[in-house]
Amino acid sequence: MLDKLNEIQATALSALEEVQDEAALQAWKQKHTGGNSELTGVFKGIGKVAKEDRGKVGKRANEVKVALEAALTARKSEVKEAALARSLEEDHLDVTLPGRPFRHGGIHPATQTLRRTLKILGDMGFQVYTSREVESDAYNFEHLNFPPGHPAREMQDSFYIEGTDTAQVMRTHTSPGQIRAMREYAASNPENPPPIRISLPGMCYRSEQITHRSEIQFNQVEGLAIGEFITFSDLKGTLSDFARRMFGQHARTRFRAQHFPFTEPSAEMDVECFLCGGEGCNVCKKAGWLEILGCGMVHPNVLTAGGYDPNRYTGFAFGMGTERQAMLRHNIKDIRYFWGNDERFLEQF
Ligand code: PHE
Repeated sequence: MLDKLNEIQATALSALEEVQDEAALQAWKQKHTGGNSELTGVFKGIGKVAKEDRGKVGKRANEVKVALEAALTARKSEVKEAALARSLEEDHLDVTLPGRPFRHGGIHPATQTLRRTLKILGDMGFQVYTSREVESDAYNFEHLNFPPGHPAREMQDSFYIEGTDTAQVMRTHTSPGQIRAMREYAASNPENPPPIRISLPGMCYRSEQITHRSEIQFNQVEGLAIGEFITFSDLKGTLSDFARRMFGQHARTRFRAQHFPFTEPSAEMDVECFLCGGEGCNVCKKAGWLEILGCGMVHPNVLTAGGYDPNRYTGFAFGMGTERQAMLRHNIKDIRYFWGNDERFLEQF
């Protein structure tokens, strides 16, 4: 029996030398130490060994078992190291190669312009007021004095939300936030609503044909000032100052009459083309002026809808497109770049 154990050990150890990979290791372990191995057979049959030999055989069988387990562990790490050495050789690790450049993200150009706009307005005392993107038809149009049947209400301009009791739209401009803000301020003191000076930034949505000039979603920044003695000259002064802070201290502005349902009178503000200095170029289309924003004195019906008595309060509002301003500032020719996620475009800012 002792001879047999010696033989079991010798056979197993020489077989182990042939083992080269993980699968063969497992097979070896199964064959030489597993439940059906010869060695396990010896342990199982120990009861049949003559009583006087039993101690010796048992001791020797244990020694073999320990020896095989130790040999297996050693071989395992040899196999592992050999595999690592092989893979290093095959992968041709070149430690002298320069490292891969670490790519930095950046702030999107539209966000940069949005932040700059809010910073300037903030310096001028306009506090940010954020409002919802999904609006009721009432806030997006009705309270803003859009007469029934106004073309902007039609399906092709607005995205309607399906499956709601009352008509819900993706806001087509930031102006509905005017009503929400006025109502919130007025609710704090209905007898004496406090003055308001806020900026309303955010994404707007219009169901339009996507072209180099128009996108179906874009950012706007709205401004709203309400108080007891606010006049059109406050509007002009504020917006001219804004233009100088945004486009440079020599930026000249002009106001043209325009129509918006929620302001009266209404205007559009142009800034002198900063690329050609008013000479006329292809950015300003030879006009020398660039249209920057819409504005006007808050319509009495809008003040009323917001809870402000139009006989006591007046105010002005303005709204501008953020991507449009970014396009003018950076001479970007196509608004679609803003949503294109093309790194060659984005990494220029
Ligand atoms: N809401 C208008 C637009 O989307 C802009 C605007 C805002 C005009 C406030 C006047 C006053 O074009």
